[in-house]
Amino acid sequence: MSIRTWPPVLLALLAQALAFVVLVALARLGLRFPAWVWVLVQAVLAVFLSRWMALGPRWILMQAALPFLVRALWGAPIPAWIYLALFIALALVFGGGLFTRVPLYHASRDAWEKLAALLPDQAGLRFVDLGCGFGGPVAQLAKARPDGVFVGVEASPFTWLVAWLRCLPQPNAHIRLGSFWRTDLAGFDAVYAFLSPVPMPALWAKARREMKPGSRFISHSFGVPGEIPHRAVPVKGREGARLLVWDL
Ligand SMILES: C[S@@+](CC[C@H](N)C(=O)[O-])C[C@H]1O[C@@H](n2cnc3c(N)ncnc32)[C@H](O)[C@@H]1O
Repeated sequence: MSIRTWPPVLLALLAQALAFVVLVALARLGLRFPAWVWVLVQAVLAVFLSRWMALGPRWILMQAALPFLVRALWGAPIPAWIYLALFIALALVFGGGLFTRVPLYHASRDAWEKLAALLPDQAGLRFVDLGCGFGGPVAQLAKARPDGVFVGVEASPFTWLVAWLRCLPQPNAHIRLGSFWRTDLAGFDAVYAFLSPVPMPALWAKARREMKPGSRFISHSFGVPGEIPHRAVPVKGREGARLLVWDL
C-alpha cells in the first residue's frame, strides 16, 4: 500500500517527523544556526515532504505554520496538561472520522425533511445513519415516523454521547458507538450516509454486498464513482448539496 493513501493527518505528522530527523542529523554534523533558522529549515523540509506526499494546499499551509507555532509556544507558561486535554478533546469529537477521512459537519433541517420523504412507506421500516454525528437526522426521523426503527452509528465518543442523549426521548431511536464498517447493513430498509468522497467506493461495495434487494441507499452529496444515482434531490446546505438515491 502506498503511503500516499494514508490519512492526511498521519502523512503530516510523518513529514514533520522526517524533517526533524534531518535537523537532528545536521546538528550532529556540527552545524550551528540561530533558532529561527532551524525553525525555517524544519518548515521548508516539512512543506517539501508534504508536497511529495501529495497533501492538499490547506495541509501545506498548516505544515509551514506548525514549526513557527511550536517555537512561539515553546517558552510560554502553558501547563503541559493543557496540550494533553486539547488532544483528548479533539480525539473525542473528531477521532472517529480520522481514519475514514470524514470530518464532522451536519445536514440541514431541509435535508432531514427531504430525507423523511425519501424513506420507504412500509410500517416497521428500519433505517440507519452511518456516521450519525450529533444525531439530528435520526432524532428527527424517529419523531416523524413512530412506526419505524432508527439507528445511528457514530465512532467519535463525545459526538456519540450527544447523539445518544438527544435520541433518549425517542424509544424508536438507537445510537450505537463504533465504526459503521462493522455494521451489517442487511437488516436495514434504508441506509443513509453523509461522509466524504474518500470512503464512498468502499461503502458502495459494502452496500452492494450486504443490503437486501428492494432497500434504498441514500448519500448526502457524495456520489459513487461510475454509479449514476436513480434520483438526486437538491437540499439546502453547501453549494451543490443533494440527496443521491440508489434503489438496490
Ligand atoms: C459529516 S458527519 C454527518 C453527520 C450526520 N449524519 C448528518 O447527516 O448530519 C460524519 C460523521 O461520521 C462519523 N464517522 C466517520 N467515520 C466513521 C466510522 N467509520 N464509523 C462511524 N462514524 C464515523 C464522523 O465522526 C462524523 O460525526
